[in-house]
Amino acid sequence: MRYQKQYQNWADDREGFWANEADRLDWQTPPQKIFESNATGDRWYVDGVMNTCFNCVDRHVAAGHGDRIAFIHDSPITDSKTEISYAALLERVELVAAMMVDKGVSTGDRVIIYMPMIVETAIAALACARLGAIHSIVFGGFAAAELATRIDDAKPKLILAASCGLEPGRIVDYKPLLDGAIDLAAHKPDACLIWQRPQQTAPLIEGRDFHWQDLEAAARAVDNRAPCVPVAATDPLYILYTSGTTGIPKGVVRDNGGHLVALSWAMENIYDIGADEVFWSASDFGWVVGHSFILYAPLAVGATSVIFEGKPIGTPNAGAFWRVISEHKVKALFTAPTAFRAIKKEDPKGKLVEAYDMSAFKMLYLAGERVDPDTINWAEAALGVPVIDNWWQTETGWPICANPVGIELLPIKKGSPSLAMPGYELAVLDEGGNPLEANKTGAIAIKLPMPPGCLPGLWQNKEGFEAAYLADYPGYYKTGDAGFIDEDGYLYVMSRTDDIINVAGHRLSTGAMEEVLAAHADIAECAVLGVNDPIKGEVPLGLLVLNDGVNRPDGEIIAEAVQLVRDEIGPVAAFKLAMRVARLPKTRSGKILRGTIRKIANGEDWQMPATIDDPIILDEITDGLKNLGFAQGA
Ligand code: COA
Ligand code: AMP
Repeated sequence: MRYQKQYQNWADDREGFWANEADRLDWQTPPQKIFESNATGDRWYVDGVMNTCFNCVDRHVAAGHGDRIAFIHDSPITDSKTEISYAALLERVELVAAMMVDKGVSTGDRVIIYMPMIVETAIAALACARLGAIHSIVFGGFAAAELATRIDDAKPKLILAASCGLEPGRIVDYKPLLDGAIDLAAHKPDACLIWQRPQQTAPLIEGRDFHWQDLEAAARAVDNRAPCVPVAATDPLYILYTSGTTGIPKGVVRDNGGHLVALSWAMENIYDIGADEVFWSASDFGWVVGHSFILYAPLAVGATSVIFEGKPIGTPNAGAFWRVISEHKVKALFTAPTAFRAIKKEDPKGKLVEAYDMSAFKMLYLAGERVDPDTINWAEAALGVPVIDNWWQTETGWPICANPVGIELLPIKKGSPSLAMPGYELAVLDEGGNPLEANKTGAIAIKLPMPPGCLPGLWQNKEGFEAAYLADYPGYYKTGDAGFIDEDGYLYVMSRTDDIINVAGHRLSTGAMEEVLAAHADIAECAVLGVNDPIKGEVPLGLLVLNDGVNRPDGEIIAEAVQLVRDEIGPVAAFKLAMRVARLPKTRSGKILRGTIRKIANGEDWQMPATIDDPIILDEITDGLKNLGFAQGA
């Protein structure tokens, strides 16, 4: 009932609802004009002035809560655990922001952050927010070419990087990747600040690279601190690149004011987390989950956020999550279902949980990919807490659908992320853009305008924004997901409508992988599609047609293809499976039948497409898939 009341309050007076919620923040100039839709798009809190860093850090210290812990860094890889209070965090952010000012950064400049799961990554982002500079965090598992694409699009004045990241058993040497990316990019940053980690220090390029720790010590010695710069609520806070349907990623823009209001609302009403409570989002700063729920949302409400440099398994075992929860008294964990599938495989009976005191733990939130009921059942039985699915995307920045635990725990329907949150009016549309009735599958769309926190656009790409999200269904935002809404309003997200795949909760473009493979000298044509994987949900599989006359062993070419994707996109693509095929199945108009191949590979029911050019090709493909262990039962 309470959820329905809140949703109805919003539906009855949408601007009034968000006007009230703006009180969650400290404003330099409180907004009077709550919403505006004009030629530049939809904007929230149009005339409000504030600073995101002030709201996440300074105001808690000013309110006398400087001793509270902002971040707990737990790294089983380096065997270390550290805490940083809000007061200590403020001091470091002031110093790092001052270092950036000394390197010429001012409001509106872009700063790329290429860093692992350490507290300095959060400090770097907050220092940008403090100055009104726009950060763009790039995930460490991307290769140099991906970083270069982002450098050329964002045109950063400065890059902040660490010397290395740490994967279990492997040091990821960031510096060659950074140098390679800057060489590849047409745009050159003025300077790079390098956080030197003891596991692998990086050689610095004279005049361009600077030793972060030395600069920070020098700033501290002379008490060089940067104050918060008030910015318009509508000014960009960050750009986060995400996979689109081509090799060029989309620069999702996030504003300052609407973003922090929405996250503060979500923290209380969805995740049920308030000041001084410990929240752990086991993701990475490089993804939207990390931006929203490791960094900004927990700090906005004065909570403690865990930064975890480890994996659900292998650091050292499948009990790592339970150790972190019990040692740091974590109230709620947010992660991707893939982490639980990995744990379940190693500890099917959940025996490792028994060694830990889990009494502080109240809730598990899963998102990033479809949550299969098996995983929910296992987690519920092992942990004895409700398991809450929530559905959203980089573009929205916070849940579209969830079970709003902070308002009330609604009945859980396994396989559904539950109901639309206030701010979102959902529709399932047919191909003509007409709303479908309950239980009918179609494209999931959000009625415009989107609520605060959702992307106001793509970075300097108005046309791309309209083409990707607004053009297909006038009056709606296209999510790219397909599914249905049941008679109780519960949403079921079933698949993507484009060639995006979801690998271990990471969003990847098969189109981007095809572009990389097509550049191989011996590959004439290729198709990449997602096939089911018991741990990662999906993994990419490449079908390669070689040029006539190529007579090298298939294995050699496949190994090169795998390496090419690793070098060009990065290990995160998890592209390890490929097979040679004589030809690809196509429609008569030349469209590759990726959906049909995927169904065959996954052993699902499929029908011969009426428009297929030559049905025999599917038999050839099925035989090849069987040799790889797929297409069982076909
Ligand atoms: N920097 C550099 N490389 C990275 C990286 C990073 N930050 N993160 C991952 N990689 C590499 C991995 O080392 C791996 O390389 P490999 O091919 O040499 O083994 C590759 O990218 C794929 O990584 P990943 O998808 O994480 O697979 P994995 O097999 O190492 O681990 C899981 C599988 C399920 C344990 C892992 O995906 C996981 O912990 N998922 C948690 C959920 C999550 O973080 N989701 C994100 C959105 S919420
Ligand atoms: P990203 O932008 O990387 O967060 O990926 C967003 C996409 O992941 C969504 O559009 C969905 O395809 C998928 N996704 C995220 N959360 C869920 C969920 N709870 N259930 C089903 N799919 C999800």
